[in-house]
Amino acid sequence: MKQRDKKQEILDKAAQYVCPGKVETLQRYGIDLVIGRREGYFLYDVNGRRVIDFHLNGGVYNLGHRNPELVVVLKEALDELDIGNHHFPSAARAELGEALAACTPGKLCYSVFSSGGGEAVDVAIKTARRATGRRKIVSIHRGYHGHTGLALAAGDERFSRAFLSEGAPDDFVQVPFNDIHAIASELCEEDVAAVLIESIPATLGFPLPAEGYLPRIKDLCSRHGALYIADEVQTGLGRTGTLWAVQGYGVEPDILITAKGLSGGLYPIAATVISEDVAGWLHDDGFAHISTFGGAELGCRVALKVLEITQRPEVLGSVATISQYIEDGLRDVQQRHRDFFAEIRRNGLVMGLRFNHEQGGMLMSKMLYDQGIWAIFAAHDPSVLQFKPGLLIDKALCDDGLKRFEDALSRCAALAE
Ligand SMILES: Cc1ncc(COP(=O)(O)O)c(C=O)c1O
Repeated sequence: MKQRDKKQEILDKAAQYVCPGKVETLQRYGIDLVIGRREGYFLYDVNGRRVIDFHLNGGVYNLGHRNPELVVVLKEALDELDIGNHHFPSAARAELGEALAACTPGKLCYSVFSSGGGEAVDVAIKTARRATGRRKIVSIHRGYHGHTGLALAAGDERFSRAFLSEGAPDDFVQVPFNDIHAIASELCEEDVAAVLIESIPATLGFPLPAEGYLPRIKDLCSRHGALYIADEVQTGLGRTGTLWAVQGYGVEPDILITAKGLSGGLYPIAATVISEDVAGWLHDDGFAHISTFGGAELGCRVALKVLEITQRPEVLGSVATISQYIEDGLRDVQQRHRDFFAEIRRNGLVMGLRFNHEQGGMLMSKMLYDQGIWAIFAAHDPSVLQFKPGLLIDKALCDDGLKRFEDALSRCAALAE
């Protein structure tokens, strides 16, 4: 069968049995990727076409696709382990918990494991409610924390309303990002269990927090008996040049959530890391939260290696230099396309590129795809393109990416005129 026919057969089967709306939407955008081979920061369509991955599935592939060191760890773990049984303590979970306690800020010390980010957000919300005896959760307007029950209710109503998952009135409140007064007025009611926040919200197109904004939220939380939950699902694991983005902003959260990249892209795992002060339920009832696949032992082994690789000086230490190199390249391109290329938002390798067109990020996704790059627009602000190179990127790939980026930008600017 010809490659093209094979690809169409997969698309037809996916539309018939799995995700008709997704297949239809992507085809409408002109993005027909069906991933076959994958290696490092490259994806290969089943028909052989190569694209550079600057999406990384939100950071899942921070360390590249099928990172060779991680593949070895997983293969070796398979000789000895399986998922394990969550009812019992295990060496793999204990070791990963110890490593997370050592590398997370402040007094964070216990890890509750999940199989994905949304579930880990649910655990964080449950922990905050149990610790404070309050129900209200404040999050950011048009933010995103996953599609499970409580996480969905804390996110945008586009998704929660569709599944009748909005919280009871006043249980979930959203405020605009960077508006400290809005958060202050919620917190001073003294009924808030927690503020759930990404340091740099992905779905908003990575707007950077204003000077002092996050520490001020933490102060207000402490003053009004609420907890600070840092959603580090996208911004954690070295992407901003510190292991966790909150560290760079001088915040010690009460609860920190990590997922996506923790899996190394090989075995699903997520963690909610909790401080002793709010971990009462872990003592009172060790079975109060159950997740059969949460903390699968194979995933723990991979995650332990992810933490080790990410913290190597030559990895974490190079984020500042390589991300500056990319920004310099982008600024150079911007000089030549001032009318269309409006703004570069960047903290380390977390980048949001805003264009002077309300669908500019979306148009760029498609143009970049045609130029051999996969990068996704911000779901809740399509004028912005999320630009997310991986931690192990080298200068040659940056140069290649920048060249393709300018080609795409020139076409896009002409189209948007
Ligand atoms: C910031 C943030 N939090 C939570 C999640 C949910 O993670 P998952 O899809 O693994 O449930 C995501 C997923 O994109 C995310 O970007």
